[in-house]
Amino acid sequence: MSEPVLYGGKSTVRVRVHHLQQAKERGEKWAMLTAYDTLSAAVFEEAGIPVMLVGDSSGNVVLGHTSTVPVTVEDILGMTKAVTRSTKRALIVADLPFGSYEGSPQQAFATAVRMMKEGGAQAVKLEGGVRVAAQTRMLTENGIPVMAHIGFTPQSEHALGGYRVQGRGAGADQLLADAHSAQESGAFAVVLEMVPAEIAAQVTKELAIPTIGIGAGVDCDAQVLVWPDMAGLTTGRVPRFVKKYADLRGELLRAAREYADEVRTGVFPGPEHSFE
Ligand code: KIV
Repeated sequence: MSEPVLYGGKSTVRVRVHHLQQAKERGEKWAMLTAYDTLSAAVFEEAGIPVMLVGDSSGNVVLGHTSTVPVTVEDILGMTKAVTRSTKRALIVADLPFGSYEGSPQQAFATAVRMMKEGGAQAVKLEGGVRVAAQTRMLTENGIPVMAHIGFTPQSEHALGGYRVQGRGAGADQLLADAHSAQESGAFAVVLEMVPAEIAAQVTKELAIPTIGIGAGVDCDAQVLVWPDMAGLTTGRVPRFVKKYADLRGELLRAAREYADEVRTGVFPGPEHSFE
């Protein structure tokens, strides 16, 4: 049987990590989106998004925190269950939240096993390169696919001094070391967040595994965006690397106002919405 192409039309064959590797070898780019609930995940699956991340960005865009730091294993687990219930084809990656893997490889393994056994995820993501090499190795040597995340790592925002581009100047060496460490420890892909486009292009060229950019230029093998940002649901300023593909906030506001008006004026419910 021939392998499915990533945007494989009606194919319902589960996207697996080797398909992403093959896509890199073919030079085929792909898009990843975050997903946190069952309805939006079903929409993204229908749109052909091959990889979804149950990200701890949910701390900001779902749970109302001001950072990803307070997100818990139970938070990600609940959302992962919701996403895996409505998806058959996309590869579902569960984020390991802050404090759930850094302590030791054993801690990382215990958390990742929960994401896979209870959540139904097919892979996990953790932040760091060299720093978490032992954790990445422990997971990958025990059958758990790992997506690495380097450059700006939001769980470390307090140590990094806020949202700042990483890998500039002398930081380029650290970024390259992190990227190679992720690959050597067995990661199947690496997210590059807020990294100069030129360095991201170099990492993409040097690594055999796919790079997934967010604020890392056009030369990465794939791109990821936080879905409420790209769909225009997020309020306030969004980062420069976000492109808004819809105005969901405006549309939801209009719908909610129209509903409220119709209830107030007695237009809704009409006879067609009522029982005899
Ligand atoms: O949590 C998240 O959504 C992420 C992406 C921005 C890569 O880590």
